[in-house]
Amino acid sequence: MKIHVLLSPLNVDELHFTGKTTVVIDVLRATSTITTALHNGAREVVPVNSIEFAMKVSGNSFGGQTLLGGERNTKKIEGFTLGNSPLEYTREAIEGKSLILFTTNGTKATVKAKFSENLFLAGFNNLEAVAKHLASLKNDVEILCAGSNGMFCIEDTICAGKLIEKIEELAGKTELSDSAKACVTLANSSGDDLLTMLKECEHGKLLIENGFEEDLEYIAELDTIDAVPFFDSGVVKLIPSETKDKTDDNN
Ligand code: MLT
Repeated sequence: MKIHVLLSPLNVDELHFTGKTTVVIDVLRATSTITTALHNGAREVVPVNSIEFAMKVSGNSFGGQTLLGGERNTKKIEGFTLGNSPLEYTREAIEGKSLILFTTNGTKATVKAKFSENLFLAGFNNLEAVAKHLASLKNDVEILCAGSNGMFCIEDTICAGKLIEKIEELAGKTELSDSAKACVTLANSSGDDLLTMLKECEHGKLLIENGFEEDLEYIAELDTIDAVPFFDSGVVKLIPSETKDKTDDNN
């Protein structure tokens, strides 16, 4: 099993992902939010790469069953029902609903990787569940860090490093690319106190400035959700637990 990490989506074409098993990570906050929304009963999440497209897709919605969510500069977009704070995605707010989500980096990275054969989403909150599933699939893995406007960001990289370590714990030694090795090194040196790391990283500081400190506390908690979101035909859903449990058992 080979693991490679793309530290940002900037220099990669969408065709790069064709036929691959890919995991998108946007710890702050898109993938943490999507996992939370689905765990709390959202029917599906439609990640989109522009606000215009979000509006267009929602134009086809009916009966209040579709909600628009997302952020621009971390804040809720005018006319949208929800922002991108995972704490907003409670069962009361989201159960049974389809969510159309636009975020600056995370949903764009997900859409970019849409040609993957298998496409999963991970954050600290579902790290072990995703690692177990990948270990059971035994495919080579491409991890795509959403980064920040095309740049490296430390929280996604540390999450990638921790994911790789967990996969190795479950599946045995893997073959790591240089960037994958760098992620593991970084996770080992700075991944013990996740909350402090999130509070001190660039995007974490911006979120605190904009009043989202509680999000960091929630997002820093490891493995609070045993669920694997996967993207298929334009929508993200959770892998049904029977399928997940079966592949986990075969591990
Ligand atoms: C993004 O996609 O850039 C984010 O998830 C930003 C955020 O909501 O903090």
